Amino acid sequence: MAHRWTNRLQAADVTPEALWLNRRAVLGGLAGLGLVGAGSARADALEPNAWEDITRYNNYYEFGTDKGDPARNARMLTTAPWTVRIDGLVDRPGDYDFADIMAQMTIEERIYRFRCVEAWSMVVPWNGFELADLLALAGVQAGATHVAFETVLRPDEMPGVRYPVLDWPYVEGLRLDEAMHPLTIMATGIYGRDLPNQNGAPLRLVVPWKYGFKSIKSVVRITLTDKEPPTSWNKANAREYGFYSNVNPEVDHPRWSQATERRIGGGLFSSRVPTLMFNGYAEEVAGLYTGMDLKANF
Ligand code: MTE
Repeated sequence: MAHRWTNRLQAADVTPEALWLNRRAVLGGLAGLGLVGAGSARADALEPNAWEDITRYNNYYEFGTDKGDPARNARMLTTAPWTVRIDGLVDRPGDYDFADIMAQMTIEERIYRFRCVEAWSMVVPWNGFELADLLALAGVQAGATHVAFETVLRPDEMPGVRYPVLDWPYVEGLRLDEAMHPLTIMATGIYGRDLPNQNGAPLRLVVPWKYGFKSIKSVVRITLTDKEPPTSWNKANAREYGFYSNVNPEVDHPRWSQATERRIGGGLFSSRVPTLMFNGYAEEVAGLYTGMDLKANF
């Protein structure tokens, strides 16, 4: 399977691993005080286990709604063995074993350096493979127009699902052409290591031109369908979260502006910079939305 996309971002553009690890401290304002900087936070001084523990600023509501909950609670999640059910409008529906998937996908070392943006932004190196290659294993049928995703639901291992903050299991969706785009990947690693559980082990979606909540974690089911699938955040609050969720500085969230972002690692007083249309990937993906009103389809 050919690597269809070439990194425009170079290794030098990547947010230093130490800043990514310490993003809680960085976002908490310590960076502004100069207490955490590219040189002062040392990832290489950490024990390997400590690394697992230290990504402490996550959204993964199945483990709790506090940003620190996933790092505390996600260690309970069993991620091996793991199967992904691929069903719906495919030629070869079935339960695909994660180890088998990896054996077929890791033909070459693949690193995807992607910008990611919420109120802050970073450049993160993911390991993984194109979603299109996974869908090819199952054989997408002609009638399919959309792809639905589902996260594992294990009340025994996920303390957060006792609370009805979202309608469990967590679900997400893409249009088929979005799903087949070479920028849409299933990530299995980050900074050259396996994904920590709190970041969605063993595999999670990454769609770099969309806001972070589209990146559904710990995926166990992928369904090809001919309807727009429901998404967890849209079900929870349709006024604030649309199906598309494309990064768009011209469309404000009802409660905040989305025009600027704070770049982590952008210097001592990481200043706000304008957010780019489609998170800087307009050249690659704007064509998917030709003729669409992106204010109405937010
Ligand atoms: N996936 C599941 N299953 N449950 C979640 O609560 N949160 C989403 C997304 N994927 C979430 C999820 C949100 S709101 C964000 S911002 C990203 O995961 C955060 O990913 P990160 O912790 O790797 O930065």
